[in-house]
Order: sequence, then C-alpha cells, then structure tokens
Amino acid sequence: MVTDIQKILIIGAGGQIGVELTAKLSEMYGSSNVVASDLKNSNAFANNPFETLDALDKKALFEIVKKHGITHIYHLAAMLSATGEQNPMFAWKLNMESLFNVLELAREKHIAGIYWPSSIAVFGPTTPQVGTPQYTVMEPSTVYGISKQAGERWCEWYFKKHNVDVRSLRYPGLIGWKSAPGGGTTDYAVHIFHEALKNGTYECFLSENTILPMMHMEDAIRATIEIMHAPAENIKIRGGYNLSGISFSAKEIAAEIKKHIPDFSITYKPDFRQAIADSWPKSILDKEARADWGWKEKYDLPGLVENMLTNLKSKNEQ
Ligand code: NAD
Ligand code: SER
Repeated sequence: MVTDIQKILIIGAGGQIGVELTAKLSEMYGSSNVVASDLKNSNAFANNPFETLDALDKKALFEIVKKHGITHIYHLAAMLSATGEQNPMFAWKLNMESLFNVLELAREKHIAGIYWPSSIAVFGPTTPQVGTPQYTVMEPSTVYGISKQAGERWCEWYFKKHNVDVRSLRYPGLIGWKSAPGGGTTDYAVHIFHEALKNGTYECFLSENTILPMMHMEDAIRATIEIMHAPAENIKIRGGYNLSGISFSAKEIAAEIKKHIPDFSITYKPDFRQAIADSWPKSILDKEARADWGWKEKYDLPGLVENMLTNLKSKNEQ
C-alpha cells in the first residue's frame, strides 16, 4: 500500500484497461479509495465504490468528484479505432468532449492530476513506420487517431497555460487475459488466444505479414502507474510518451502459439481494419520514456504467449 493520499476516479473502468487498472490501483491505495465508473456496472467491482457515469455529462462528473473528494482521474472512456470508423461523428464527440470535461475540472482546481491514454494511432501513413520516434510526421488517418492527436495537443496546452498535471502514454496494442478488448484494430492479438484454446483455429482480420507494436497488459499497467508516480519535474512530455514493448506479425504470434498448441491453425481474411493497421507504425522508439521516468518493458513475445495461454487456461478451468 502506498502512503500518499489519493482518491481516484476511473472513467471507463469496465473496459479492457480499466478492469486491470482498477484492480492494481486498489491494491496500492485500498479499494475504498478507488471509485470505478462506467456507463453501466459490472461484477468486476464488488469491492470498489461504483458510480454510473456518462463521461459526456460534465455536471454528473463534477458531482461524483465532490461526493468522493476525488484527487486524481484516470480517464479511459473512448471509442477505439475500428468502432470509431463506423461511427465517426460520435467517436469525435466522445473522445474530445469527455477529455475537455476532465481537463476543465483540473483547470478549475477541483482535481490535482489526470491520466489520459493516447495511442500509436496518432501516427499515420506518412510517418516512418520502423523505429518511429517520439517526434516525427504525424498525419493520422482514422477519426480515433485524429482525436488522440488533438487530445495530445490539448493536454500540452492545458499544462502550459494552466499548469494542469496531465500525463499520457501512447499505448501500443494491449494484450491481457483478465478483460476483453473493446473495438480496436489490435484486438486480434487477444482474440487469437481465446480461439486457439477454445477451437484450435482462428480467422484473423489482418493479413499474415501485418506487423504492429504490442505490449502485455501487465507492462502497460506498470507503465501507467510509473508515469503517474514520477516526480512532476521528470515529466517533460505532456501530450503522450511513445511506449515500446514488442513488435510482431500475425504470422509470428501464430507460430509462437503453435509451439504450445501444435494443432493450432490460422487463416487470414483481412477486412477494413487492414487499412488502419497499414497506416500505423511497425515498431516504436521510446528513449524519452526510458530517460525521463525509467521505463523498461518486461515481456518479450515468447513470455507473453506463455503467460497468456497459462492464465487463460486456468481461468477457463475455474
Ligand atoms: P474499452 O473500449 O475496452 O473500454 C472503454 C470503456 O469506456 C468501456 O467500458 C465503455 O463502456 C466505457 N465508455 C464508453 N463510453 C463511455 C461514456 N460516455 N462514459 C463513460 N464510460 C464510457 O477501451 P480500452 O481498451 O480499455 O481503452 C481505454 C483507453 O486506452 C482509451 O482511451 C483507448 O483509446 C486507450 N488505448 C487502448 C489501447 C488498447 O490496446 N486497449 C491502446 C491504445 C490506447
Ligand atoms: N489498440 C488500439 C486500437 O487498436 C490502439 O489504440 O484501436
């Protein structure tokens, strides 16, 4: 348990990251100090206070902040890349207006700190795709990516103009066994494990040679906690740090799974998500995160595959 006093609100706590982040922060601060919120409750939050909240409702958000004496918000609610392309206007509204609601609460000094995730989707087809650095050409081609890039600029602006302590990571695709992904292009790398264990086969919506930056959820949660607990003077980038884990193609992860499940087979049927994946980096350079607040990933591809299969298997057996 940590000793600094934080009262945390997680917005979008029921999602892929939120479930795991709520559990980790509850371990650190005690469940009663971590308020989970989402559009609807789920059974993941038996021990946490829960609030039903639409992140677009600024008044309701403010009431919850006052009611619980919230000091820090982790704002995770968003529409991701694939679902965002299906509903572009609402994706833009949700991703931008909900961020402004949180940033404004901090500007008005109702809360002390914000975590808001960005994404590799801030990059686009004109970005150098291999070893993509922190500072480079950024012309995102999805509504999701445009909203993340605009969000990054606003985070920097609120920090510079109003000293808002907002911190952000450009997550790669996240792979975890405790929760389901919610509408992203990298989701195949989670579905593949479930299908391999259940049916021994998987039809992938990306082509076999599609390489994307990815990360084990455990690493991503640790990165989130580390950046949020680093001294403020170490955080030199307020828009979103590049964050690197591992890069692999669909064919490579399938081959690694086959080492554990020899009969596993995969077929490829690329759909509209292929164009999104093709517009994103294949690998990321993150020397700023390493230098400023000491980031280092733990999982490589064999370690990630072994961890996913072991944990999903024992979860399925429970
Ligand atoms: P998710 O889709 O799994 O979860 C989002 C949650 O937000 C859901 O539980 C949903 O019910 C909730 N939500 C949606 N609209 C809401 C609203 N109006 N008010 C309150 N809650 C609402 O997403 P995730 O994968 O957990 O991602 C969380 C954040 O991390 C997002 O900002 C996403 O862009 C970012 N991110 C995720 C990944 C990834 O691979 N998962 C990678 C890069 C960035
Ligand atoms: N995993 C996310 C997506 O595919 C990247 O931000 O949308």
